Amino acid sequence: MQDLNKLWKIFKNKFTDTGLTKGAFSAPGRANLIGEHTDYNDGFVLPMAIEKEIVMLGQLRNDRKVRVFDFGYNTEIVFSLDKLIPLRKNTWANYLMGVVDEIQKAGYVLQGANLIFRSNIPRKAGLSSSAALEVVTALTMAKLKSSDIKPLEMAYLCRRAENNFVGVACGIMDQYISCLGQKNHALFIDCRSNNYEPIPFKGHNYQIVICNSKIQRSLVNSEYNKRREECRIAVEFFNHKLTSEIRALRDVTIEEFKKYQRQLPETIARRARHVISENYRVQAGVQALREENFSAFGKLMVESHRSLKNDYEVSCAELDLLVDLALKQEGVLGARMTGAGFGGCTVNLLRREYIDAFEKTIRQGYKKITGINPDIYLTLPTEGAKVLELR
Ligand code: GLA
Repeated sequence: MQDLNKLWKIFKNKFTDTGLTKGAFSAPGRANLIGEHTDYNDGFVLPMAIEKEIVMLGQLRNDRKVRVFDFGYNTEIVFSLDKLIPLRKNTWANYLMGVVDEIQKAGYVLQGANLIFRSNIPRKAGLSSSAALEVVTALTMAKLKSSDIKPLEMAYLCRRAENNFVGVACGIMDQYISCLGQKNHALFIDCRSNNYEPIPFKGHNYQIVICNSKIQRSLVNSEYNKRREECRIAVEFFNHKLTSEIRALRDVTIEEFKKYQRQLPETIARRARHVISENYRVQAGVQALREENFSAFGKLMVESHRSLKNDYEVSCAELDLLVDLALKQEGVLGARMTGAGFGGCTVNLLRREYIDAFEKTIRQGYKKITGINPDIYLTLPTEGAKVLELR
């Protein structure tokens, strides 16, 4: 947890006290354990909120202005709640503007505010720092005005902000887990019904470790949209072939896929195979965790990575290297890329007693081949967005 008192001091130096309602809030980043590129196919995912978060402090103002200070980048932006236009510079502010835009469109009344935020989620590393910024903004703006926006509604609102204002066609996973994450649990989310089941991950003997390749995900938006389009083409194809209604790749079984795969263009077939098989892996993985069969879960993580690498083609040489190095290390049960891909992080499952050896193997091996010092984070599943106590 970040030092709140210190942040309050900075807040007080920066803004004049308006005497109105104030508060402190946080929202976490996420790592997805399994179920990649399935959320926008109405499928299954199994993310967990991580112990890295954005903290935001805020106080209402007497007007319709939002003054926001990004502590990490030492920049300030002012915008009006009545004039929300995406910025070309300081694009981080678009996440905040998009969120207040969607809150207002949903019928909630907002008031201006002074805000400051600080993040310890690495940016552009595939750990959902943008979803965390959206969610912490939504929570701050709603709570300061005593508006009760339910967590699921908040997740949808934030996703719409990213889709409509920021212009990224993401699915629901990141905002969902940032809003609804639970301590010591991953969430098994059905992205069609929006129901979820908390899956215990107490991790006595096991640890989740995240490795940051430090490769920034430059291709991610255009390639992400391309994958979505390829999935859409596959859905259209199966809709013509099958008698039941196919709304998304979620509705196609492995058997149906196998029967028709040769009639599909080769690339489309591979994309569809990833999504369809990944949905099975998530369900099998959840069952394995329920039975505390961590080694079975680890194997599914490895299969997931292979499928993302070969069929969905969203990995990169550095992520593959991190996975290969991890799997050579004793005590590692599973390793895979996490998030959209093309750089960012891997998520690893290992026995606790091998943590030091693992770190050493990864640091040395990765540096030797890429010249880059990777970052390594240990984390347990933590809770979603919340109100922080002010002392
Ligand atoms: C990004 C998107 C998510 C999801 C993942 C891939 O993180 O924001 O909605 O599609 O990629 O699983």
